[in-house]
Amino acid sequence: MSALQPPEVAFDLNTWMQARLDRVERALEQWITADAPQGVDHGAPAALVDAMRYAVLDGGKRLRPLLVLAAHEAVAAEGGGCDAAALRAACAVELIHAYSLVHDDMPCMDNDVLRRGKPTVHVQFGEASALLAGDALQALAFEFLTPQDDSVPCTTQAKLCGLLARAAGSSGMAGGQAIDLASVGLPLTENQLREMHQLKTGALLQGSVVMGAQCACPSPRVLTALEAYGAAIGLAFQVVDDILDVTADSATLGKTAGKDADNDKPTYVSLMGLEASRAYAMRLYQQALDALEASGLTDTAALRALAGMVVHRAH
Ligand code: IPE
Ligand code: IPE
Ligand code: MG
Ligand code: MG
Ligand code: MG
Repeated sequence: MSALQPPEVAFDLNTWMQARLDRVERALEQWITADAPQGVDHGAPAALVDAMRYAVLDGGKRLRPLLVLAAHEAVAAEGGGCDAAALRAACAVELIHAYSLVHDDMPCMDNDVLRRGKPTVHVQFGEASALLAGDALQALAFEFLTPQDDSVPCTTQAKLCGLLARAAGSSGMAGGQAIDLASVGLPLTENQLREMHQLKTGALLQGSVVMGAQCACPSPRVLTALEAYGAAIGLAFQVVDDILDVTADSATLGKTAGKDADNDKPTYVSLMGLEASRAYAMRLYQQALDALEASGLTDTAALRALAGMVVHRAH
């Protein structure tokens, strides 16, 4: 290395992740209780809270919370941010994600019995409890975003609620899930499949990135670039999910492998085959890296590494 170049400090994703995962796990463990986060007694039925905790705690890669925190840190490095808001946003997106999995696994949707290496929530607690646990997790996500102390400015609370609602609702995850159910057995075009994947999975991943950014003060240039980054990894994530459904085993995935073909779902693998799907995921990865470059942000090592994790993961 020339004496003029600053030494590159190697970024260690595992070390970076461990500290953030610890914070997220601790917060989820503390906040999903029969009491509201502020300690007010809800009188929530213990059985419902048991099902909610079962759905969220101890399992999952926590990719969405990590994206929230990484985007927040990248933007805050340019000058100020709200750590309390970022932690709450990280946990809130994970609750929406966990609820989406509970409902996705139910017999009326994908009819799955295994999730995160455990029996699915409806298998363990019954269908009505699974439905309600999902409902309650969705509501709790918005409780997390609206603490009654002054730890998160009201304007940030409102912005985060709007972003999460749009990512989760009929123009986001729930809308994509509706297209997914309506597409069983149908040969979708590439445009239709992309749209379905962008909504059912991409919207919440992109929302995670944008929510993290909005806990600091992104410039319009940074926001546009991070939206593009989130869109690219959001779509790549579901392309890789489709690939892993075919190539990985249930023990590695912690969910039933081969489910897409069994359920006659249109996927990237069924549309274009394994090799072309892999190549497409890598093109999206490159798009994500290009977007980070275009952002002008200086501290993007974690976001780059998380994009790599999205496409190179084994489960
Ligand atoms: C699975 O998401 C559902 C999809 C959107 C493809 P993850 O693969 O992130 O699931 P967990 O959170 O790690 O269990
Ligand atoms: C699920 O897609 C997307 C969600 C919004 C939950 P999949 O149905 O492919 O997810 P897995 O494979 O069951 O995790
Ligand atoms: Mg599904
Ligand atoms: Mg499924
Ligand atoms: Mg899948």
